[in-house]
Amino acid sequence: MTKVLEVNELKTHFFTRDGVVKAVDGVSFSLEKGEILGLVGESGSGKTVTGFSLLGLVDAPGQIVGGTIQLNGENLVGLPEKKLRAKRGKNIAMIFQDPIATLNPLLTIRTQMSLALEAHARMNKREIESRCIDVLTKVGIPDPAARLDSYPHEFSGGMRQRVAIAITLLHSPGVIVADEPTTALDVSIQAQILSEMRSLARETGTAMIWISHDLATVSSLATRLLVMYAGKVVEEGPTAQVLKNPRHPYTRGLIDSLPAMAKPGEPLTQISGTTPSLLSLPPGCPFAPRCDRASEVCVQDPTPETNADRMWRCHHPMQEEEAVR
Ligand SMILES: Nc1ncnc2c1ncn2[C@@H]1O[C@H](COP(=O)(O)OP(=O)(O)O)[C@@H](O)[C@H]1O
Ligand SMILES: [Mg+2]
Repeated sequence: MTKVLEVNELKTHFFTRDGVVKAVDGVSFSLEKGEILGLVGESGSGKTVTGFSLLGLVDAPGQIVGGTIQLNGENLVGLPEKKLRAKRGKNIAMIFQDPIATLNPLLTIRTQMSLALEAHARMNKREIESRCIDVLTKVGIPDPAARLDSYPHEFSGGMRQRVAIAITLLHSPGVIVADEPTTALDVSIQAQILSEMRSLARETGTAMIWISHDLATVSSLATRLLVMYAGKVVEEGPTAQVLKNPRHPYTRGLIDSLPAMAKPGEPLTQISGTTPSLLSLPPGCPFAPRCDRASEVCVQDPTPETNADRMWRCHHPMQEEEAVR
């Protein structure tokens, strides 16, 4: 297997007036060609900041203060903006939750796609048109040749997000970071887009990091899961194994609160408490105050434990026989 991305001990902190927010605090993972990695966790856990860090899009008061991001063997951390710009869109691209962030309302799809193509490639009009039609077809836009001269507002929400995804595909980047790209869409359109992304990864070998607060969405797509809490990866492993036998109590809480896990007539289980403020984290395991397994030892930082291709960070992990109900 070819590793396209290897992130090691990435730290992105925000230096605010109230203190240092360690939004990403020692995140490590790797991504293979064509792999879809799910990044899941409650709101505020550091998922978006992780994605932005990978593309070098973190702005002041935020800063990458440690770690490495190897894209095809080259460390992006510390690269000058000009070099990053040459890779952004070409080798690594991002899909945002809101396609409005990607699409300019004043320009036709053809113009926007041409600009995106010309940023990294020399192509004539005919080549550009055929490339545009090619990617619009890949994301399931019907009759793409006829839609090229439309403006973003002439597309429905779901179709607009597909166009935004198509733009990220123009240069066939090795890695796509998708940050909650279907959260605003209705469920059936979400399912269609997910299925198209899956075939895309398979057919083109594009690797994806699929970010979502919704474990159900992520696990339908990703072969491996990273569970984030308060800036750290608390659990990692193959999706099926993590769902069947989570080791971290936080992961178990996320699984138990899935609608599909509820017994008929019973209310959904919620993880008690709320996500802690990153400015006042408890010492040791940040989940301890919400955890029903916590003990005195949890005021110390749990060292990551690994077993085969799984990792968890917990003093009192769930055992094999404690599979979810
Ligand atoms: N510009 C910023 N200034 C200060 N803190 C920030 C900034 N952007 C994000 N953060 C903090 O980083 C943490 C992680 O945010 P984020 O990555 O957006 O979470 P997620 O995507 O998992 O919901 C949050 O606590 C947020 O308050
Ligand atoms: Mg986010």
